[in-house]
Amino acid sequence: MNGWMGKIRAVLMLSILSLVLAACGKENLTALDPKGYGADTSMDMIILTTLIMVVVFLVVIIVYSIVLVRFRRKKGQENYIPKQVEGNHTLEMVWTAIPIVLVLIMGVPAVMTVFDLADESEASDSINIEVTGNQYWWHFNYAGEEVVTSQDLYIPTGEKVYLNMQSSDVIHSFWVPSISGKMDVNPENVNTMYIEAYEEGVYWGKCAELCGPSHSLMDFKVIAVSPEEFDQWIADMQSVDPADEPQDAVAQEGKELFEANNCMGCHAIGSSPSAVGPNLTNFGDRTKIAGFLEPTEENLVDWIMDPESIKPGNKMTGKYPNLSEDEASSIAAYLMQLKPSEVTPESVGGIN
Ligand code: CUA
Repeated sequence: MNGWMGKIRAVLMLSILSLVLAACGKENLTALDPKGYGADTSMDMIILTTLIMVVVFLVVIIVYSIVLVRFRRKKGQENYIPKQVEGNHTLEMVWTAIPIVLVLIMGVPAVMTVFDLADESEASDSINIEVTGNQYWWHFNYAGEEVVTSQDLYIPTGEKVYLNMQSSDVIHSFWVPSISGKMDVNPENVNTMYIEAYEEGVYWGKCAELCGPSHSLMDFKVIAVSPEEFDQWIADMQSVDPADEPQDAVAQEGKELFEANNCMGCHAIGSSPSAVGPNLTNFGDRTKIAGFLEPTEENLVDWIMDPESIKPGNKMTGKYPNLSEDEASSIAAYLMQLKPSEVTPESVGGIN
């Protein structure tokens, strides 16, 4: 009795646990709820292969159960030897043919999908973006547009956007689970892929290759906006003049400190393609600070004062003089007011 109770309890616990864990996922961070072309075709393959595996599993279990019950040794059959079927031609043919057919059913669409997702024939007429992976952030340079940004990648919905990807240091992997598959980002060569989002929204991106102590914090976002909003965003980004003076006095002081402390040695504001540190042109519109902190001035001050404690192994640590909290606050005020566009992550619903 006790043994059974224990088993029932274990099954109950497991069910509750899987229910709780199932709620852990974030919206727009799952390959199982596709919102873009690459994720969609991958989902079709997941469904196809899972269906085939389930059918094979059921057939094997059913045949096994029938044999177990029907062909048990019965009383009086102790010395009975059943008919021997070793080398049976028909059986050999059948159980060789079935797996081949199943592999073909999975393999042909898989190969077609691979070629489809690697098709670059429309790239020259489309938006092309240079993507550079860095420990631990992402650089995006819109080819021919003189628009550079980092961490939040803006794309128009319903269009294939071609990414030409390379790393400045170690191997990273670009992955936006709900709209595309993964692509490794290497230092030696350019890898290409395209992404397409069906609907407006903010999609979570992850680095999917262990790349150092802050690998798990190398998050980014894809901001999918309507094609009209995208054109607007590009125009707004192009019109930024890094020399523009902030209205607010504290922000003005922050701008001076930003220049005096050599922040601009690494961080460009405007269209400079330099990728030493993240481009900050639209920093005030970012979904996160340092890729994963809530975008508050307080978090930004903490980050500027001591980045190493927040993101170990980052390359900003030690590159500038120590700042007082007041100085860091002024710089934070300057950066937070860099909001060149009405088109923002908030305008497409924000992060879920
Ligand atoms: Cu970059 Cu992990």
